[in-house]
Amino acid sequence: MGQSADQSKSTKAHWEAVFRKKQGNEVSWYQPHLRLSMRLFARAGASAKSRVIDIGGGDSTLVDDLLAKGVQEVTVLDISSEALSMARKRLGASAGSVG
Ligand SMILES: C[S@@+](CC[C@H](N)C(=O)[O-])C[C@H]1O[C@@H](n2cnc3c(N)ncnc32)[C@H](O)[C@@H]1O
Repeated sequence: MGQSADQSKSTKAHWEAVFRKKQGNEVSWYQPHLRLSMRLFARAGASAKSRVIDIGGGDSTLVDDLLAKGVQEVTVLDISSEALSMARKRLGASAGSVG
């Protein structure tokens, strides 16, 4: 069952507020590198040729590490436009190659 429009609105408001208040490295779940995700990526048999989408990626550095591994088709999806702007800013020129 999907979320109702009201639930989606309040979920978005919640996450926008979180990312307005804190820098990406100030949130409680922050890790400089998502090592477990990268290990699972390798264990799943993914490679530089894989297409990867990070759902709920926020401002995490998973995208940076995937790009560093040579993965060319990376997409970050997030309900928070604040988080996506922060990620774009952090990535700088590399953001141009991320969907
Ligand atoms: C706990 S944070 C984790 C962020 C990132 N994966 C990390 O490890 O740093 C959860 C993320 O999921 C996003 N999110 C929550 N609900 C979502 C939804 N329905 N669709 C897309 N993104 C969502 C939030 O905006 C937030 O960036």
